[in-house]
Amino acid sequence: MQLLVNGKSYEVDVDEETTLLSVIRHDLGLTGTKYGCGGGDCGACTLLVDGEAKQSCLMPVDSAVGLEVTTIEGLADGDTLHPVQEAFVEHTAFQCAYCTPGFIMSTVALLSRNPNPNDRQIRAALTGNICRCGAYVRILRAAKAAAAKLGPKGEE
Ligand code: FES
Ligand code: FES
Repeated sequence: MQLLVNGKSYEVDVDEETTLLSVIRHDLGLTGTKYGCGGGDCGACTLLVDGEAKQSCLMPVDSAVGLEVTTIEGLADGDTLHPVQEAFVEHTAFQCAYCTPGFIMSTVALLSRNPNPNDRQIRAALTGNICRCGAYVRILRAAKAAAAKLGPKGEE
């Protein structure tokens, strides 16, 4: 089957029940998307499918055919980080960083549909992502900083 990932087309020969996460990591070698719980509980495997945050451990790969998949590797523009990535770095919004790609992808999805979210909306959008290191305060700070970088100016 044919997959479109980070703007590139890939032909993959896998069982259609294989998870999208497994194909992304093992067949395409895009290991920025992490395996955590494998059951939809941690958000480590979050990527974008047609711009929406999805837990790829729950998606059979064939459900992504014909859709645009974006992983953490697809966010940067060459050497220039995406503003959400920049904000996470600037606010050191991680400790071990295992959860970070998932949080960043959920934040990107949130800001694309709501460029000026309040704290409650950020928390709600990130509720499916778990940080075992407890970096939540800095993650929230980074998400707000990313919104300020990307969002409409002049709104409180
Ligand atoms: S690995 Fe997918 S939600 Fe935990
Ligand atoms: S920084 Fe370690 S799990 Fe979040």
